[in-house]
Amino acid sequence: RVVAIIMVGGPTKGTRFRPLSFNIPKPLFPLAGQPMVHHPISACQKIPNLAKIYLIGFYEEREFALYVSSISNDLKLPVRYLKEDKPHGSAGGLYNFKDLIMEEDPSHIFLLNCDVCCNAHKKYGGMGTILVVKVPPESASEFGELVADPVTNELLHYTEKPETFVSDRINCGVYIFTPDIFTAIEGVSSQRKDRANLRRVSSFEAMLPDTSNITESNPCNELKLKFSSKFFCRSLTANYVRLDQDILSPLAGKKQLYIYETMDFWEQIKTPGMSIKCSALYLSQFRHTAPHLLENGDGIKKACIIGDVYIHPSAKVHPSAKIGPGVSISANARIGAGARLINCIVLDDVEIKENAVVIHAIVGWKSSIGRWARVQASESVAVEDEVVVINSIVLPHKTLNVGVQDEIIL
Ligand code: GDD
Repeated sequence: RVVAIIMVGGPTKGTRFRPLSFNIPKPLFPLAGQPMVHHPISACQKIPNLAKIYLIGFYEEREFALYVSSISNDLKLPVRYLKEDKPHGSAGGLYNFKDLIMEEDPSHIFLLNCDVCCNAHKKYGGMGTILVVKVPPESASEFGELVADPVTNELLHYTEKPETFVSDRINCGVYIFTPDIFTAIEGVSSQRKDRANLRRVSSFEAMLPDTSNITESNPCNELKLKFSSKFFCRSLTANYVRLDQDILSPLAGKKQLYIYETMDFWEQIKTPGMSIKCSALYLSQFRHTAPHLLENGDGIKKACIIGDVYIHPSAKVHPSAKIGPGVSISANARIGAGARLINCIVLDDVEIKENAVVIHAIVGWKSSIGRWARVQASESVAVEDEVVVINSIVLPHKTLNVGVQDEIIL
């Protein structure tokens, strides 16, 4: 049996995804018309003997409740959201729910970051296998860089986001582990606890001479309090375990971890700009996985459709609009006559008026794009008729009545 786990993080993570993540948890932001986390969930469906899918994060439970209940129904597979009371790190978060996960008695745990966009891998071995991809050397330092044995695929060396170049093979954030991963995480936190105890004893001893100076006005209670809060902080960090630095790095070269290199696409989704690219990638994948979700211009929409396009059934698109490639249009959007949309994400309740052009942009919830406007905008921005906005960042709740170029409108 296999259990799939998707690490979704929480509101204090994913800050580069702002301002979009102010409105919606990043894992629920729509890509190709479906929540970001929906894509790995649907990919997991193909895993043989999959018993359950867990999403682990520290967002409020209510934010995921609706989505997990509807996806569980659709897939006829239990999908549950597990909330951490505080961030425990990418490995600590997993460990936090060890007992619950082990109730399924899994032989393997398929673990993945929610903010990667790729094709799932098939081969695995050892205590764990890491999905790996080759990237241009100049961008490798944004990821975990690693070196593996070319014959056995054993992971020999791992460094997280190193300052000096190690390798152009990087960690994709997709893993298969045996339950032994829990023992490895346990090892790290108990080592930390031991070290914290040691430090506590030694700092206590170092402080001892000072205690002789304690007077009535400086009671030793205060000192005790200082010690206990210091210890409390250290025991907190003992449960904070990062998968990459704390587990993968020390286990490299110990015949426990292996890599599987994918030749397929892989992208990270950290910024709104990256989400436009991933949305287009998922749309092109729909050709093989869910062609019924793609628009062909024949149906009720009848607009001129180019390439891969998703249009929510409740959206109203004028037949003379030209849409695509790489466009996804969410619920209740209205696209006017002669509008041209290329490579963009149009969110709920947007209005794009006649002859407006939107290229390579996310048009945020409830935004309105005026006639003949040509834009890149964010949520709740109103661009008036015949205004041109090029290469700019526009913060929410703005009305643009003059053209701007290369500007940040605060
Ligand atoms: N539940 C939970 N709790 N999830 C967390 C926590 C936590 O405390 N901390 C991080 N995560 C989740 C994030 O939401 C994300 O899905 C994943 O764990 C990894 O996040 P980070 O630890 O912030 O790392 P990163 O995304 O910058 O880099 C990692 O992924 C890259 C691939 O996308 C590293 O593993 C890199 O080596 C790797 O290349």
